[in-house]
Amino acid sequence: MKVLLIGNGGREHCLAWKLKNSSSEVKVFSPSNNAGIQKIAEFVELNEKDYAQISRFCIDEKIDFVVVGPEDPLANGISDYFRSKGIPVFGPSKLAARIEASKSFAKNFMKRHQIPTAHFKAFTYENFSEAKKFVQSLEPPIVVKADGLAAGKGVVVCPTQQEAISVIERMFAGEFGESGKMVVVEEFLAGEEASILAITDGNDYLLLPTSQDHKRILDGDKGKNTGGMGAYSPTPIIKDKVLEQIQREIISPAIKGMKEEGFPFVGCLYAGLMVKDGYAKVVEFNCRFGDPETQAVLPLLKGDFASLLYSAATGKLEKNYLYVSNELFSCCVVLASAGYPDHYQKGYQIFGIEEAESIGCLVFHSGTIFSDDKIFTNGGRVLGVVGLGLTLPDAIKKAYEGVEKINFENKYYRKDIGIKGLKYL
Ligand code: AMP
Ligand code: GLY
Repeated sequence: MKVLLIGNGGREHCLAWKLKNSSSEVKVFSPSNNAGIQKIAEFVELNEKDYAQISRFCIDEKIDFVVVGPEDPLANGISDYFRSKGIPVFGPSKLAARIEASKSFAKNFMKRHQIPTAHFKAFTYENFSEAKKFVQSLEPPIVVKADGLAAGKGVVVCPTQQEAISVIERMFAGEFGESGKMVVVEEFLAGEEASILAITDGNDYLLLPTSQDHKRILDGDKGKNTGGMGAYSPTPIIKDKVLEQIQREIISPAIKGMKEEGFPFVGCLYAGLMVKDGYAKVVEFNCRFGDPETQAVLPLLKGDFASLLYSAATGKLEKNYLYVSNELFSCCVVLASAGYPDHYQKGYQIFGIEEAESIGCLVFHSGTIFSDDKIFTNGGRVLGVVGLGLTLPDAIKKAYEGVEKINFENKYYRKDIGIKGLKYL
């Protein structure tokens, strides 16, 4: 099978690795300069924004299907374009991708389908006075979100009503660009965050193991929000009863609802959840695999990943291509460049990846590049080091042993990935 993979990060390196390790023979093609992806995939010189060029390549090369990693091209309609040319795609249409690309759309969709989520209202500039009134009706903290995609930076948890009003004002004034022209204001949900991924053909779905991301830059969940500093899987926060509720009240109605409304979701539906007192509510939906959750979740899967995704992309999900290893835990620690998520340097040589691999860790590249047969840092998040173990503490220990083996200037990582899960074991 021939697969074209779109995307550049750790999630895509992990997808490439899992596609390649399918039981069927798979050849992965990628236009990415990520050093990890380049080790696995055949590099093809394509402009990721030139959909016509990519589809010509797919047709000429007889590519069986395309897997799209990131949200931006999905929100831009890349899947619709390829499908219109007869190329199967694992990734939702532009209409279905609104579940991530527009928070007001997602919240109203959840309301229409009685999917549990925080109480909210959406406003544009014309309704600023109503937005203020709504803020005044809520107990702080109050959550203000820019409607559109903002690379994880469009959400502000405000400690006071005054702060919430000022954030709304700044969003309307353009501080978050087009994304902030509409805002969602919502109640704060307390609890533990967790994520779950569902592979779907728009009709049926397969749930992957649960996970928990660590979004803040500092230990103890302090400091700025990032793309994610580490994840572990499965998370004991989600016990069987909560999992049933998540399927019944969240994943099933979301997939059914999108189909009924005329935009079936084909791809990986990501539900970001807040779990409290054994009940999960949706914080957000994403229209793609999570990053770094994917690096923690996929190593727990056995079987034919490529055939599974192909079956979803072609409209008839075959769930038995895959099974989950129930006796393993995984922990992924992200190595970043100090300064991330703000300003950071690139171009430092990375040492020790093979040493980490030699003790059994998996190392996925987020922001790296090859030059002169050496590997250099090329992004804020640089690597994801994954440890596997029969218990969560073992997986954490293994991941940090791998972390110790790898060195580059300005290496920064959180020391507490996975610790939040231990108290629920
Ligand atoms: P989002 O992009 O909607 O996932 O929001 C980013 C982060 O903000 C989430 O991962 C949560 O940590 C936090 N967050 C968003 N909405 C809420 C909420 N209603 N209550 C508490 N925290 C939230
Ligand atoms: N790890 C959070 C995300 O992928 O959105």
